[in-house]
Amino acid sequence: MVLSAENISSYLNHKADIYYFDTIDSTNNEAKRNSHKLADTPLLYVADQQSAGRGRLGRTFYSPSDTGLYMSLMLKADTQTQDIVCMTTAVAVCVCEALEELCNIKPMIKWVNDIYIDNKKVCGILCEAVTDPLSFKIKGIIIGIGINIRTTDFPTELKDTATSLGQAINRNHLCALITDKIIESYKTISTRCFIDKYKERSLVLNKHINYIENNEQKNATAIDIDSNGGLVIETENGIKTLSTGEITVRLKND
Ligand code: BTN
Repeated sequence: MVLSAENISSYLNHKADIYYFDTIDSTNNEAKRNSHKLADTPLLYVADQQSAGRGRLGRTFYSPSDTGLYMSLMLKADTQTQDIVCMTTAVAVCVCEALEELCNIKPMIKWVNDIYIDNKKVCGILCEAVTDPLSFKIKGIIIGIGINIRTTDFPTELKDTATSLGQAINRNHLCALITDKIIESYKTISTRCFIDKYKERSLVLNKHINYIENNEQKNATAIDIDSNGGLVIETENGIKTLSTGEITVRLKND
């Protein structure tokens, strides 16, 4: 079934305004360009291909045509800033559950925003806040999700670390299911009910990790995920919490 706004809409239980593009620079960019349209109805931007897909920490996200799903859901922020901070954590659980339901696999999460199967990355999540230019208040959130569905030809630098679902699943259905789950999860985000589910799927908990802080590589053991999605680690200098968004964590065998 061809990827289209109409087909996504046929699977969607919640109301959303859907915009589909054969090719776009980045669905997150497109959402941002349309942030003046933020309203109670969620806005969903979906593309078959991205020419400038973006990842966390200024990285690019490889987004070839026909083999992946690239989507950005833009929601009005009527919640606390702390809730926005842990959106990536909540979304990671939604994506895993949708993939599990449709593909019969058990995806895992590498803190903070990467979804893994068979120890390789299959999906990345990039959440970005939309701020009011005058008040600087957060008025919305853009949730960008990129999933390798049938990609086989990864660029050399990704060959060892990236994978795809390797299944011919219906992208419209997957997109709608993820969207429904995120909209539902957002309603109860203040309860943090997703944290336990996140922990169950964590690839880093109770593992030795390296992390880079101030350009320096450090060793630690990941011991918990706190209620804001922060990674609690034990270092030689004691226990501390890495907050989402600033740090790259590597498993010792990465
Ligand atoms: C990461 O791996 O660090 C996050 C990758 C997020 C990729 C998705 S694809 C749809 C949306 N548009 C983008 O430019 N990025 C996100």
